[in-house]
Parts: sequence; structure tokens; C-alpha cells
Amino acid sequence: MTVRGRGRTRVVLLTGKGGVGKTTTAAGTAVLAGERGARTLVLSTDAAHSLSDAFGVARGEATDEPVPVTECVWIQQVDAQRRLEASWASIQRYLRAVLDAAGADPITAEEITVLPGAEEVLALLALRDQVVSGAWDLVVVDCAPTAETLRLLALPEALGWYLDRLATSGARVARAVTPTLARAAGVPVPEPGVGEAARRLHADLSEVRTILGAPESTVRLVLTPESVVVAEARRALTTLSLYGYRVDGVVANRVFPDSGDDPWRRRWAETQRETLVEVAASFAPLPVWEAAYASREPVGAAALADLARGTYGASDPVAVPDVPAAMEVVPRDDEVEVRLALPFATGGDVGLTRHGSDLVVTVGSYRRVLALPTMLSRHTVSGAHLDAGRLAVRFVAPADGRGTW
Ligand SMILES: Nc1ncnc2c1ncn2[C@@H]1O[C@H](COP(=O)(O)OP(=O)(O)O)[C@@H](O)[C@H]1O
Ligand SMILES: [Mg+2]
Repeated sequence: MTVRGRGRTRVVLLTGKGGVGKTTTAAGTAVLAGERGARTLVLSTDAAHSLSDAFGVARGEATDEPVPVTECVWIQQVDAQRRLEASWASIQRYLRAVLDAAGADPITAEEITVLPGAEEVLALLALRDQVVSGAWDLVVVDCAPTAETLRLLALPEALGWYLDRLATSGARVARAVTPTLARAAGVPVPEPGVGEAARRLHADLSEVRTILGAPESTVRLVLTPESVVVAEARRALTTLSLYGYRVDGVVANRVFPDSGDDPWRRRWAETQRETLVEVAASFAPLPVWEAAYASREPVGAAALADLARGTYGASDPVAVPDVPAAMEVVPRDDEVEVRLALPFATGGDVGLTRHGSDLVVTVGSYRRVLALPTMLSRHTVSGAHLDAGRLAVRFVAPADGRGTW
């Protein structure tokens, strides 16, 4: 096990469609790591907490603070309601008011769709607290179903974009949001204390970004071998890549054992096998771990560990993978190419807009506002293409040769 003694906490987030086995896989991965000596926390950010059920402990025993379930493994179910902080509520009220007043500014209007609920923020802050505590070698995050998780993971950056502009207090805040906002009539003046609260939240969220952006933090997709589920997992991989997260593998859960004389069962096993071949081919080079369909619900540490041992086999479930960064900036002759990994995206899905020093990339209904490196601030976009799951955007230096390099 490579997790111990590295000094930095390994973070594995598990997500996937509802009911595919995220909690079971998160718990199993944790127990396995715990058996090998890693001090491990399983943190659930799904409001529909079921960690206590997976471990077979009474609901009342699993709390908002970590509680032990085995010698090395602790569980924590984040209770966002309880954590709701007055300062955050006031920022959110103010943001809403500002955005309402802003009317039709395109960036702002679209950003509203990723404007988070306080619960996601609190879940991220709970994760941050545990990671910086130094108490854990490994934190396994049992996430909510895919769509909510994607919203959660878009948040540190999307919200940081606002808070950058909000961090100056008082009336200057209104002017700082966007030039369009400054012109918009009736931008409200923030309540006292909003500036300070915004600055604190901004600092907290940058810490979350640093943690989630570190090579030790990865997302693992859980799916079942069914075409609808696989389709959602593929879209999740595209979106996670858009946001710059490292995906380290796929767990295919509830795989039927082969054989048997019953034609119904044999047919299911064959269909799953065909889907798994597609899964392996389409997610390559990511590892695909298969978890067997157990003959009963894997509840309790022993059953969870058995399932996880079968799933990961000889491989280390929490090794830090060698996943390349999702975004690269590559100088080429007199051009600069910005490359972004977008597995499975097709030309029709992807939109690209330049807003000053931001490049706005959309894939379907998801969007990311990428702050361009300052060296590109005077360059113009000369073209873009999508090839083998990689978006390449080309920038040329200004004609007067006064590019920043
Ligand atoms: N490999 C498996 N074999 C048998 N039952 C499983 C398996 N994986 C999950 N389950 C059961 O399926 C149900 C849903 O699993 P869960 O991990 O709670 O899914 P999710 O967290 O994705 O909603 C639970 O009752 C769980 O015990
Ligand atoms: Mg669950």
C-alpha cells in the first residue's frame, strides 16, 4: 500500500448513477485500505446517507463527526443542515440579489445555473477540514449521484470566479462584478460583513481547489454494466475532464458470475460481458475493476472487504495514479495551443467563447470559465479543433509582435 507516510492525504471521490453501488464501493475500498494499515475516513456528502447502513451500524451512531467502525476506518456523514453558517447565507442572498439585478449578461446568466447551494459548499469545507487535519492517510468520499457531484465539483472554481470579484467590500463590490453589472441599474449594496465573509469563503474555497487539484486527489466512476448507466458514466468523464479533475478508474459493479444452466441468467451474463468489453475499450487506458454481484447485500466491514478484495485483486486501490493534467499550454512556432482533455465529447457538443481574459468552454449544458494564462492575454484565437478526445485551441500573437513572449 503506497498511501502511508507520503505526508499528503490521498483523496478518492466515488461517483456514479443512483443505486449503482457508490456507497458499497466507497466503504469496501476504505475497509481494504484500513486492513493494510491506512488511517482512513469515509466521508459521505450524499444527503441520502447510507454509510451507516453499509457498515451495519445504527443510524444514530454515524454522525457529522467521524466515528470509528473498524480499527483504522472511521465514517462521517456530513450534516449540511446543521452546518449552515449565517455568513454563507448572507453571501448567498447578496449574490442572488446581484445576479437578479444583472439581468441578461451572458456569463452571469449562465453562471446562475452553477451557483451552488450552501450544502455543497459545506460538504467541501468538511472535506477540507478533514484533509488539513492531518489525521488521515486516506479520505474516501462517498458522493451524491453524478449530476449533483458534478455541480459540487464545478463549484470551487465557479464560485471563486464570483468571489474574486466580491472580495472587495462595500459599494466597490457592485462595480467589481462585471462591467455589464456595473452598468446594470439597481445593483444592491451588500449587507455589512459580506465583504469579510466573501473573503473568508474565497480563501476556504481556494484551499479546496488546491486539495482537489493535487495529484493525490482522484475521482473514480462506479457503474453497472448496463448501457444507460455506461452512457452516463461516459458523460461524467467528459465533464470531470472539462473541470480538470483526474479520473483514476472505473468500478463495474454487480457483475454476474458466468455459467449456470438457466437461460435467463446466461443471457444476462452474456449481455453484461458484451457491455464490459465496450466499457474497457471506451475508458482505456483507465483501469476497469469488476465487482461481483454478491448473493446478498454486502453489509458490514467483513462483507465489504470481501467484495473489495475481489474487485481490486492484486492492484493497490489507492495508489496515486499517473494521470496527465487535463489542460496543457503548448507553444508551437508562432502560435500557442491550449489543449484540454475532453474524452467522448463530439464537435456538436462543444462550444467555445472568448470573454476578455477568460475562455469559456461548454460541453452540453456544462461550462467552464478558464482563466487564460497572462501570456495569452493579448493573443487572439485563431482556430480550434477536437481530435481523439482532446480539444486544441490555437492562439496567435498580436500582429504588432508585442505579445507577452
Ligand atoms: N456487488 C454487489 N452485490 C450485491 N449487492 C450490492 C452490490 N453492490 C451494491 N449492492 C447493494 O445495492 C444497494 C445499493 O448500493 P449502494 O452502494 O447503496 O448504491 P449507491 O450508493 O450508488 O446508491 C445496496 O443495498 C447494496 O447493499
Ligand atoms: Mg449511496
